[in-house]
Amino acid sequence: MEAVRYKNRKLRYLDQRFLPGKEVWRRCLSLGHGYKAIKELRVRGAPLIGIFACYTLCIAQDHFSSNSQNFFHDLDKAARYLKSARPTAVNLAWAVDRIREKARSYEQHPVKKIKEIIIKESEQIHAEDNLLCRKIAENGISLIKKDAQILTHCNTGFLATGGDGTALGIMYKAVRDGKNINVYIDETRPLLQGARLTAWECMKKKVPCMLVTDNTAASLMQKKLIDIIIVGADRIAANGDTANKIGTYNLAVCAHYHRIPFYVAAPSSTFDLSITEGTAIPVEQRNPDEVRKPGGLYQAAPAHVPVCNPAFDVTPGNLITAIITDKGILQPPYGESIADMFLPDR
Ligand code: MRU
Repeated sequence: MEAVRYKNRKLRYLDQRFLPGKEVWRRCLSLGHGYKAIKELRVRGAPLIGIFACYTLCIAQDHFSSNSQNFFHDLDKAARYLKSARPTAVNLAWAVDRIREKARSYEQHPVKKIKEIIIKESEQIHAEDNLLCRKIAENGISLIKKDAQILTHCNTGFLATGGDGTALGIMYKAVRDGKNINVYIDETRPLLQGARLTAWECMKKKVPCMLVTDNTAASLMQKKLIDIIIVGADRIAANGDTANKIGTYNLAVCAHYHRIPFYVAAPSSTFDLSITEGTAIPVEQRNPDEVRKPGGLYQAAPAHVPVCNPAFDVTPGNLITAIITDKGILQPPYGESIADMFLPDR
């Protein structure tokens, strides 16, 4: 199960705007198309937009200059453009910059060779993410009791990554391992990634689940119906502060009050050590009409009412019980455990 395919130099993606109603696959033909697909959340989820942006460069480079110096100018310009599509998930910049650096390391080679390297590195990033998902699931599984009632937010599965998923990947493994879990899925206003995408994935993967409105989460915790909360991440600062889909912070505060363990699951590509704390993470503000006119379908609020529509919030590290990564489970204090993971020889 996958949401992006690059084969025979053709890039195709599952347009997530139409899920769960229709499975519409589209072909990405240009840099502009790739940018739009990321911006409009046709392709979404932190790791997947990084992968998709790399493949977009693979398509776009056919139109770059064949002169080596100008080729790098075109590559840098396209990379900057793609990175500007969405500012919060660091995986996008991380993946695109990795491609740029790899290409630069072949500067002395003919442009034809550099293009091949860009394709190879993009496929490598995709394959690695698949592996990182598997490792996150292997590391996280010990935290799941055999009859766990799990709450999750947004979408962190195969529609958001190059593999089975991060937080959802752990739940899929729990089911494969024969654990009798149940997943409560927050609908995740305003774009309903939980209702439209996570519920769709869970139904496809035969994971016992129940969809709830975002407003229901606190009451489920109060009734002791939730054992554990696991969410994904779009960027994790050096001190463990974590940006994720708007509404994640609400869950963390409620979990703290009810003494319910609150976990973040993310690959190493989601950590941004250049940012010391969460307040410095750029939070994407989206179109007010996503709130005023949900799905473009009906006028839920007056047409011109001012709207505040941040796509993400930041949960302070001190509300996070542990961070499940491909390299192991990080415990607080995160300033130390994150530095140990990334800079072992410091
Ligand atoms: O705006 P989206 O749908 O791209 O937001 C996605 C999320 O917030 C996910 O929780 C996050 O990217 C982790 S995906 C493994």
